[in-house]
Amino acid sequence: MDYIIKKADISTLRTGCLVVPVFSNTHSGNKLADEASRELVKKLLKKGDLKTSQSGHTLLSYDTGTLKAERVLLLACGDEKEFNSSTYSTAVAAAVKLLDESNTIDATFILPELTDADNAYDLVRSLVNSAENSLYRFDECKSESKPNKRPLKKITLLLTDGKLKSRFEKAVAHGRAIANGQTRAKDLANLPGNICTPTYLAEQAQDIKRGIRKMKVSVLEEKDMHKLGMGALLSVSRGSRQPAKLIVMEYRGASAKSKPVVLVGKGLTFDAGGISIKPAAKMDEMKYDMCGGASVLGAMQACAELDLPINVVGIVPSSENLPDGDANKPGDIVTSMSGQTIEVLNTDAEGRLILCDALTYCDRYNPDVVIDIATLTGACIVALGSHASGLMSNNDALADDLTEAGQQSNDRVWRLPIWDDYQQQLDSNFADMANIGGPAAGTITAACFLSRFTKKYKWAHLDIAGSAWVSGGKEKGATGRPVSLLVQYLLKRAKQV
Ligand code: BES
Ligand code: MN
Ligand code: ZN
Repeated sequence: MDYIIKKADISTLRTGCLVVPVFSNTHSGNKLADEASRELVKKLLKKGDLKTSQSGHTLLSYDTGTLKAERVLLLACGDEKEFNSSTYSTAVAAAVKLLDESNTIDATFILPELTDADNAYDLVRSLVNSAENSLYRFDECKSESKPNKRPLKKITLLLTDGKLKSRFEKAVAHGRAIANGQTRAKDLANLPGNICTPTYLAEQAQDIKRGIRKMKVSVLEEKDMHKLGMGALLSVSRGSRQPAKLIVMEYRGASAKSKPVVLVGKGLTFDAGGISIKPAAKMDEMKYDMCGGASVLGAMQACAELDLPINVVGIVPSSENLPDGDANKPGDIVTSMSGQTIEVLNTDAEGRLILCDALTYCDRYNPDVVIDIATLTGACIVALGSHASGLMSNNDALADDLTEAGQQSNDRVWRLPIWDDYQQQLDSNFADMANIGGPAAGTITAACFLSRFTKKYKWAHLDIAGSAWVSGGKEKGATGRPVSLLVQYLLKRAKQV
């Protein structure tokens, strides 16, 4: 999509469609639009067809009164008092879908009344992000894809105040980079396990690196992991014919002195559960068990696209988890890179086994903070559903920063405690710890397990089991979360927002 920022007179503007925001308690969401569209908006609203209180409800009109636009689209934005970038996202998504399906090639959006520069940035970024996301399709694996013959190609953002131009430009760039990162994450996650293998993920990391001087990608092979003593990670991949990979992406946007943010993403390209095999229903969805890793690739890509002046390292331990004669067996004891031994009481709790070695590996980067992202526990879906990702951390300031970034990027998290009281659930009779903590507080005990490998740095864990994809039904697919949260956090650290 092309985005054009333009100052123009609405009454003489030629465009395929003029999109006019409407709040439920006013005639339109923008005074300028009111004046320019004269009686048109009033007249259309009088009919009562537009449900103005329902964000995203639309009314398309070919009667454009005295305007030069070919069409006018009234876009309901709900109650002005409850309006924010999140409700605006919902509205924009509906408008863009409709325009894309209605032969409109170019549209001009009038933004709702902008209160200040921050608000302009937020709304423009939401618009761009939401437009890109609402047009996302995944048909790579269909033999015939049916492309839209007249897709929406150009969105013009009407600039009402010249002083806001640079704000608009920044918002478009940020919104776009985030959307590109989300698209990368969604594509990878939607690909099936027989295509998106650990090797494929590693190749994708190389692909992201291409042409970017500030990025370096290295891939550790199983023999390298042996040398490092990554017994926990390797025990998971032993049951699979696909070799495990440890993908390391280093983005250098600042001087070597500046301590990096390290992002660690679970890259389980298929999780059958291993010997503790999962039930057949919905097992196909375990191709999404690499969404944490995919979000790290997406965030690294966005970092590079935005040329952020910070150092970021992305680490993705990647493997399959399958039943096999050589797979982990319940009761097996493995030695992690940290030296701590683990009794594998359930082979389906494999995410923490691959993550713990990757988290120990992080030490060498002398990280300022480490954030791991993982589809780690079904219990997180029970606790939070799909609206919030679970957040657990050993550092309050980091937890607060991530909570705020989640709010700002409409990609929310909710913090759960990891008090010492829970640690005893991981006691093992035969090893330093067990890999499961029983049925109570499954999301928390998984994080408690990880916390035993993250003592040397400030660390946060995001459990995205519920937020990373939509399950079953027609809308089934990856959501691209939490790329926008991660990029928002990085933008903030880089003082770009
Ligand atoms: N990848 C799953 C977690 C998961 C389950 C994500 C459902 C999304 C939807 C993870 O590897 C797993 O199997 N966890 C087990 C842990 C248990 C054995 C302690 C779980 O949640 O059942
Ligand atoms: Mn599992
Ligand atoms: Zn898993």
